[in-house]
Amino acid sequence: MHFDPRLLADARHVVVFTGAGVSAESGIATFRDKLTGLWERFDPAQLASAEGFRRDPALIWGWYEMRRAGIADARPNPAHLAIAELATRVPQLTLITQNVDDLHERAGSHDVIHLHGRLDAARCLACARSVSSALALPEGARDGKRIEPPRCAECDGPLRPGVVWFGESLPEQALSRAFLAAAECDLLLSVGTSGVVQPAALIPGVALEAGARVVHINPQVSGSGHAREFAIAGKAGEVLPRLLSEAFA
Ligand code: APR
Repeated sequence: MHFDPRLLADARHVVVFTGAGVSAESGIATFRDKLTGLWERFDPAQLASAEGFRRDPALIWGWYEMRRAGIADARPNPAHLAIAELATRVPQLTLITQNVDDLHERAGSHDVIHLHGRLDAARCLACARSVSSALALPEGARDGKRIEPPRCAECDGPLRPGVVWFGESLPEQALSRAFLAAAECDLLLSVGTSGVVQPAALIPGVALEAGARVVHINPQVSGSGHAREFAIAGKAGEVLPRLLSEAFA
């Protein structure tokens, strides 16, 4: 069913829920997209898990540093910019992301809810002391080599990436803020997510259940046929700017 952009212009509280697809046009590989899927090349259990890190910290730290370098070299794309602009056009906007990059922030979005943590933050594996994003990228970060993780200044334990690994729980406060916003909004835009990783993937359904309209923006969309659920097939970097210009022209 066609989504009328005027519904965006009239929305009181918009939730934007993003996945790896919103950063795809910035050149950041998504996880599962078969053409660019990183998982094709690596064994996910080995790379994105506390077990994998314990087994080979240098391999895992090197992989995340390579991704951090890729993000530092990337720029926000028109999708990130449109979401930042939308926040200035509607009375209330809550941005929830599954991504660990800082491209939403660099596009001008504020108070972004990161459900799966952030790559520009690290913490000590032993004492959990967090290290701000001041960590400079080490020599060779872009080569995807093994890099020994730095040591914690407090207890000399190894630092680990500040992301949520498979099997780990999501940050409590972020998750409850996200569910609250989804239950309270009148429109949720789900942008660039395959919707397969729980509990994040529950968020659009919470909004739908609570009476909001939900719009999926993804080249591979499949709507559920629900009267208040819409799908716009296309790339976020093209669909979002067009949606805003139609809604606020
Ligand atoms: N615009 C919009 N969507 C796109 C684009 C694009 N240009 N390119 C790809 N997509 C879509 C793909 O069709 C796919 O549905 O983005 C989605 C990316 O899906 P995933 O790679 O599964 O990423 P995501 O949904 O964010 O994964 C969720 O899984 O691995 C964990 O923690 C990781 O946060 C990640 C979570």
